[in-house]
Amino acid sequence: MEKIKVIMDVDTGSDDAIAIMTALRSPELEVLGICTVNGNKPVENTTENTLRVIDLLESDVPVYQGCATPLVATLNPTRQMRRAKDVGEVDGRIVTYHHAYLDELPQSKSKPEKQRAVCWLIDTLLKSEGDITIIAVGPLTNIATAMRADPRIIPKIKKIVIMGGGRLQTNTTSASEFNIVMDPEAAQIVFTSGCDILLVPLDATHRAWVGKEESKRFRDAGTPIGIAVADLLDTRIEAYDLLQPIIFAPQNTTPPHDALAVCAVIDPAVLKDVRFCRVDVDFGGSFADGMTIVDPRVRTDDPLNVHIALDADREKFVKMLFERLE
Ligand code: RIB
Ligand code: CA
Repeated sequence: MEKIKVIMDVDTGSDDAIAIMTALRSPELEVLGICTVNGNKPVENTTENTLRVIDLLESDVPVYQGCATPLVATLNPTRQMRRAKDVGEVDGRIVTYHHAYLDELPQSKSKPEKQRAVCWLIDTLLKSEGDITIIAVGPLTNIATAMRADPRIIPKIKKIVIMGGGRLQTNTTSASEFNIVMDPEAAQIVFTSGCDILLVPLDATHRAWVGKEESKRFRDAGTPIGIAVADLLDTRIEAYDLLQPIIFAPQNTTPPHDALAVCAVIDPAVLKDVRFCRVDVDFGGSFADGMTIVDPRVRTDDPLNVHIALDADREKFVKMLFERLE
């Protein structure tokens, strides 16, 4: 079976790390390179964290450092958002989804490539046969910048699978999801690019949770990867219990958002209720900033542009994770 060629765009992060491991250990995928972007942490951190995952897996997949700031979202000092707290404290210990550096993994030995992510994306896509799928699991700054810098890449992108947004689920503000609200303008550029887009939003990822039972099974595997996944999941489970209980999920669980986007490329049946809709992103800078507006109307004047998954097959997802990471 021919491998699916993919480029990952990440803001590593605890769930990005699990997503990268899943991709690198999937025989169905050929990961051509990994681009890092500012998001969960500054791009220097997300690059170091990505390299830590590469080293853990003893992979030679190249890493390209990307954009350090959103396109314009941080230029207006009054563009405040009532963001949900992402750090807490338990017994004097910091509890959060993503530590500045992934302390769960040893410091990296490898280095990023000299070429920067946006330039590499343009070169690679232009040289390609148009057979590359982009898996974007952080803010879309790199992808939007590459599209603006050289629109010739747009017809060369086979598909973009994005973890981001939400129809009836949000996290960072009452209206928005983190990856989109960090760079709403970039998201709107990508959503209206004309590319084939599959969006894996919180409506799907919040239904694809894992918990202590899965974490224990990874830890009991006793492998470096199994233990790292268990540590990353335990970090996330504690943070979700303290900071962001999910309506669909029991206590002591977490949604490894980004890994679901990777699994969706390998087996689309891991997603359910996928609809072709008109989706736009608000970048008005107020309450709805970063909101993914999913047009519910049967008839709409705007061209439909996004395949959005509103549910997921949790059992299938968990099985896929164990097949690859246990
Ligand atoms: O909202 C979830 C997304 O934001 C995930 O990609 C997570 O890594 C963070 O970047
Ligand atoms: Ca991410």
